[in-house]
Amino acid sequence: APAPTREDHFTFGLWTIGWNAQDPFGSATRGPLGAVDAIHKLSELGAYGMTFHDDDLFPFGSSDADRQAAIDALKKACDETGMVIPMITTNTFSHPVFKDGGVTSNDRAVRRFTIRKILRNIDLAAELGAKTFVMWGGREGAEYDFSKDIRVALERYREAANLFGDYVLEKGYDLKFAIEPKPNEPRGDILLPTVGHAMAFIETLDHPELVGLNPEVGHEQMAGLNFTAGIAQALYQGKLFHIDLNGQRGIKYDQDMVFGHGDLINAFSLVDLLENGGPAGGPSYTGPRHFDYKPSRTEDIDGVWESAKANMRMYLLLKERAQAFRADPEVQEALLAAKNDQLAQTTLAEGETTADLLADASAYEDFDADAYYDGEGFGFVRIQQLAVEHLMGAR
Ligand code: GCO
Ligand code: MN
Ligand code: MN
Ligand code: MN
Repeated sequence: APAPTREDHFTFGLWTIGWNAQDPFGSATRGPLGAVDAIHKLSELGAYGMTFHDDDLFPFGSSDADRQAAIDALKKACDETGMVIPMITTNTFSHPVFKDGGVTSNDRAVRRFTIRKILRNIDLAAELGAKTFVMWGGREGAEYDFSKDIRVALERYREAANLFGDYVLEKGYDLKFAIEPKPNEPRGDILLPTVGHAMAFIETLDHPELVGLNPEVGHEQMAGLNFTAGIAQALYQGKLFHIDLNGQRGIKYDQDMVFGHGDLINAFSLVDLLENGGPAGGPSYTGPRHFDYKPSRTEDIDGVWESAKANMRMYLLLKERAQAFRADPEVQEALLAAKNDQLAQTTLAEGETTADLLADASAYEDFDADAYYDGEGFGFVRIQQLAVEHLMGAR
């Protein structure tokens, strides 16, 4: 695969490469990494931009002067390198005050503080030219069924989301929101746990057009769901505003591995969907390819950069393989043999009504299912084998 370039639109969270590898069982295995160094190194590796939480750039509780100094240093590094900040997000989970959540904490003062923290960060997003504002409500949830009435908590979530939408409209900011679902961790159960829950919630908002999704590979897979299928529905409903790419192996804790280092076949179908799933076979998603992973605790700083490169290389390798898969005449033939052309036809003919269908004896009264059924298979396994062979470079 070619080396990554700006045109590939690869972005990384500052909290990914900057993670010092502290986990619930042990202390940090790596030292800190500053935002300016991160920008320069990512730029050198061919990335397009970086993203961050407010607290990644300036520690919680920083003075206004320190906060501004960190922002200015970041802007300067962006100017020097041409890197951009297409997305920013807010930390409403680390400080102990957020232990029962931010916008849905049972404690009203915490909710008011959280909204202020987020509003301040929305201003920063606009100042930095970010187009997407991610809302990952990691602490919005509970461990126990009797902790709170989920309907009331969702009403508070909705109140906050409506307020942020109004604020952006009032200020005239060119900024949209992307909710990031996750089923659990750090809470026992998190509100808006999957892509489906979040999409349904968005429709209840005053300005649903301002709010979409930032789905993360591992999070849907933690819930046992097919990520590519979820992304397909998000695209279908116009809600794929951003994406978090990483790797996960099955239903367990959030592994945040390198993209493709978990369920490789699902990563392949995802890249195929993003790159070849659009009209006329072009890209179906044009936003940043954002990596939200954690360089494993076993790695030193060289390993951090190797893992950053690995994410981009995995994506580009999969893109190459996906193009070869689509261009293979045998694949095209197998897709047709599986009646994909029929799936693309409407079930009722144009202008045909339910009454017409009811009057069509061939559809029911004369439809002899036993006679119609000829035992012929769809050949889906053959398509899958062709896909895996392309993925393996065997074709
Ligand atoms: C996770 C989440 C977080 C969020 C990030 C943005 O792995 O649990 O992905 O990393 O994406 O904090 O707010
Ligand atoms: Mn994750
Ligand atoms: Mn994420
Ligand atoms: Mn993450």
